[in-house]
Amino acid sequence: MYRSRFTENLDEHTLDYLSSISDDKEIVLYDILGSQAHTIMLYENKIITKKEARKILSSLEKLKKENLSIKSDSEDIHELIESLIIKKAGKQAGGKMHTARSRNDQVSLDIRMRIRDDINTICSCLLDMIETLVSLAEKNGNAIMPLYTHLQQAQIGFFSHYLLAYADALFRDLDRFYGTYGRVNESPLGAGPVGGTSLQIDRQSTAKMLGFKGLIENSIDATSTRDFVAEYVGQIAILMTNLSRLAEDFIIWSTSEFSFIELSDKFASTSSVMPQKKNPDILELTRGKTAQVIGYQMAILSNLKGLPTGYARDLQQIKTLIWPSSKIAISALLVNNAMLKSMKVNKHKMKKAIDSGYSISLDIAERLVKKGVPFRTAHMIIGKLVQSAANLKKPLSSLSPSEIRKSLGKYKMEPKELYGIIQSMNAYSLLEQRTSHGSSGRSEQKRMILDRKKKIQAYVIGTVKRTNEIKAAFENLAAKTRTMSK
Ligand code: ARG
Repeated sequence: MYRSRFTENLDEHTLDYLSSISDDKEIVLYDILGSQAHTIMLYENKIITKKEARKILSSLEKLKKENLSIKSDSEDIHELIESLIIKKAGKQAGGKMHTARSRNDQVSLDIRMRIRDDINTICSCLLDMIETLVSLAEKNGNAIMPLYTHLQQAQIGFFSHYLLAYADALFRDLDRFYGTYGRVNESPLGAGPVGGTSLQIDRQSTAKMLGFKGLIENSIDATSTRDFVAEYVGQIAILMTNLSRLAEDFIIWSTSEFSFIELSDKFASTSSVMPQKKNPDILELTRGKTAQVIGYQMAILSNLKGLPTGYARDLQQIKTLIWPSSKIAISALLVNNAMLKSMKVNKHKMKKAIDSGYSISLDIAERLVKKGVPFRTAHMIIGKLVQSAANLKKPLSSLSPSEIRKSLGKYKMEPKELYGIIQSMNAYSLLEQRTSHGSSGRSEQKRMILDRKKKIQAYVIGTVKRTNEIKAAFENLAAKTRTMSK
């Protein structure tokens, strides 16, 4: 449709190479909505007549209901829709729809509208998953486990503490998406190809009709930039990295060696050949899909870094990477959330791991500190004690006073006193005394659970509000379109 300055057409392979039409399936509806708002604005600003607007709007409305066949010789959805509108409304009216805009502001508009919706979906999935983590923390309030560093037992803690750590990481993801939303929610429509238009358009009015908070003002910036896409996919890469680490823990914890958790059969896979297998494939796919999104993010930044300012067709390849990124984020959240809800927590296995290890050591050392022993000395004393117990293949609590005396060596400490301290301590009581802010202590768990529940509520309200704002704008636009089409 655009090729009036040429004498030859694109051949089949070249068109296929050039065309973004298969990726554009994801933005058809946004393109139609954008065109409706633009048409209404053109009429309201006396650039087209009411009759012309009516013809265009009713054709767009018809198109909305049709199953668009993307098989055409159009290069993209913008060309296809415009050519269909011209066919339906005639050249006199339909040929005016593309007045005072360009595919360059149009494609950026469609992408922004789509990402805006995807962010709201991701935020609500994130909230669901955070809620699951917090309620699991509450439900498993008594489950204690070794906390790990270097994947070696480090300190005793509550399982709830672990779950809340991921709730907090996901809260930060949520917060990042929240911030990004504000930067995506700005309308580029009417920026034209790059430098604006001499026609008296009203960009604020189309922005408002489409539910945008405001404009991406500078027309060069509006048409050139995809930094908002890099930001969005970057946030997805960070979110997926968080989910991937959780997946890695659960893969380890679901081995028969650990057995801290067991996935529900609904979320397990088996082997084509070994009938006994219960494999955590969905968790492995979370790791795998994370790698994929990190690759997308790398591709986006590589695409952008050397581009001259102004639209270049390279940008089309960025669009391709957005939809699968959104899909990965949304499905990973849905599946992992459902997996969490249905998994079995083996509290006794977690407790058993504590009993067979020495993760109580630091707490014992701190008891000595409370009695005035310098921390470094306490560290050395308990280190010696662990050495003896490990040699004797027993837990610290099974060391007798005389075994303790032997291990104390040069350290001046009454073995009976140390024996008494060790005997007086158990995993549960020491967690009552772990009171530092944000620690595994019982009181901190209670406080953090309560606090996170309140935080969820605040975000739910915000997310629903944003979704409703878009919905209300679209309903108004539909009403306006109906009135004008009469
Ligand atoms: N199909 C293009 C894209 O996805 C739309 C914009 C084309 N603009 C242009 N001047 N060639 O990016």
